[in-house]
Amino acid sequence: MLLNKIEEIKKNIKVWKKEGLTIGLVPTMGALHAGHLSLIKKAKETCDRVVVSVFVNPIQFGPAEDYDKYPRTLEADEKLCKENGVDIVFAPAPKEMYGDGGRLSNDILTYVCPPFFYVNKLCGKTRVGHFDGVCTVVLKLLNIVQPDYAFFGQKDAQQVIIVKKMVKDLNVPVKIIQCPIIREESGLALSSRNKYLTEEGKKDALALGKILNNIKACYKKGITDSVALRETAYAYLSEKHDLEYLEFVDRDTLEDRTIADNNTVVLIACRVENVRLIDNIYLGEN
Ligand code: PAJ
Repeated sequence: MLLNKIEEIKKNIKVWKKEGLTIGLVPTMGALHAGHLSLIKKAKETCDRVVVSVFVNPIQFGPAEDYDKYPRTLEADEKLCKENGVDIVFAPAPKEMYGDGGRLSNDILTYVCPPFFYVNKLCGKTRVGHFDGVCTVVLKLLNIVQPDYAFFGQKDAQQVIIVKKMVKDLNVPVKIIQCPIIREESGLALSSRNKYLTEEGKKDALALGKILNNIKACYKKGITDSVALRETAYAYLSEKHDLEYLEFVDRDTLEDRTIADNNTVVLIACRVENVRLIDNIYLGEN
């Protein structure tokens, strides 16, 4: 069932709650792919009812980012959700979520701003205000759907750490479930933004996964110095790659790790054909 209005979805949620059913929420921006479907599958296994939100959230895009051209494929998304047993697809218009003005509205909007330490690094460094937008919309969705469980991908490692922090700090009664990264056979991490890449760009984008796998292999051989590990990346980079960051941090706290250990996650952001791609790998077990 496709719903666009907050009041409509609330009515359905109320009925489910009355029946004592557990509810899972999978927040997305649509253009669904196998990565999103893995979250939906996990939600189906865990919960009695599953809601997928499809909302390209204007307030998490910077003014020079791809909000306008972000792929919107609601019909196909709805079909995929139906095939995968989703009970409700919630696809509100920006106005429904943020009132008149929609994008960067002047309406009063109370933002959730995660601590500086968490947003002052990695993606937050170049995407100023991005995680305020993410946390604000995620909290709104959690309040609307009131799920028992919400599902997020390790693909956006910083995002899930920040969402977990918000839920803990604000005592939001939901359990956040993190799901592993789904990749193409080539190793490329699935992303809605892969649609922007040409075939050649897709090949060049494989460097991200190769860099991360090689770093993990070097770590397994005993190299733990992050400077030395970072240097191994350059063998995979050419003028086609615009590296934004390659960082070593603790996978739970986001603290920098100069010496890598089994709790370290290595994160990369790199532009290929001017498409911003991100990926990451745990050096220890998943
Ligand atoms: P979106 O990029 O659509 O991603 C929705 C969810 O799918 C996120 O939790 C993301 O980590 C997960 N995901 C994306 N690619 C994946 C992959 N290859 N493997 C596993 N999971 C993957 O992330 C967002 O939307 C937004 O910021 C949102 C949380 C919806 C807030 O607007």
